Amino acid sequence: MLKAFNVTKRFGALTAVDELSFEVQKGQIFGIAGPNGAGKSTVYNLITGFYSYEGKIEFDGRDITGKPPYRIAKAGIARTFQIPQTFPSLSVQKSISVGCRFGAAGGLDPTHVEEMIRFVDLEKERFQNTALLNLLGKKKLMIGAALATKPKILMLDEPMAGCNPMEIKSLMDLIGRINRDLGITIIIIEHFMKVLTELTEILLIIESGRMICCDEPVKVVNDPRVIESYLGDVNAESK
Ligand SMILES: Nc1ncnc2c1ncn2[C@@H]1O[C@H](COP(=O)(O)OP(=O)(O)O)[C@@H](O)[C@H]1O
Ligand SMILES: [Mg+2]
Repeated sequence: MLKAFNVTKRFGALTAVDELSFEVQKGQIFGIAGPNGAGKSTVYNLITGFYSYEGKIEFDGRDITGKPPYRIAKAGIARTFQIPQTFPSLSVQKSISVGCRFGAAGGLDPTHVEEMIRFVDLEKERFQNTALLNLLGKKKLMIGAALATKPKILMLDEPMAGCNPMEIKSLMDLIGRINRDLGITIIIIEHFMKVLTELTEILLIIESGRMICCDEPVKVVNDPRVIESYLGDVNAESK
């Protein structure tokens, strides 16, 4: 469904993404992990058309290389950000409606907005100002607004960052339902290896913009190259 061919992004002397190739299959939950500064968020910025790059990206059999962000959103790619981005002066309902006007949805669809408010479990907060939501609420809102665009693929950037174990469980459940019940393909960047091994079918590990390995999570976490470059570090952090 999404294919990257030798994608390279340079910021001056820094090569943030280096000859990266991978393929995400339709219906998959595809994970991306790697140390801070590995180039994970930059990969999202390239897929969504925020920066130019070398190489090629195909989505749904079409070449989307060099297309502007609104065209890529219209094609059915939605994303969330590492730091929740909300419209502080809008209600939950309005914010999700804004999402619905963009992307593949093709205009406001109140029924769909209603369904997505329910899907992310923000019915009680629907008329609340988004600034008043707690962290989990803001994260659910950002996901709800992305879902309102009716995407084919949803890209989540560290959705569990800053969350406690209960919030993590709630988001994992939501992500599973998005994939299963809405049939949306998911790419997830995450720091918590446990989340990735439980949720994903394929896990891509990158370091300094380069692929270390890309395989089933059980194989990835036992790969000596991954243990050396990344996992040792993460395991130490989570203790
Ligand atoms: N717009 C930019 N201009 C210059 N350097 C950038 C820019 N965006 C990211 N970088 C650099 O690219 C590298 C990868 O960053 P990023 O993709 O955010 O890493 P990750 O998400 O894996 O932590 C980092 O060294 C970062 O400083
Ligand atoms: Mg990042």
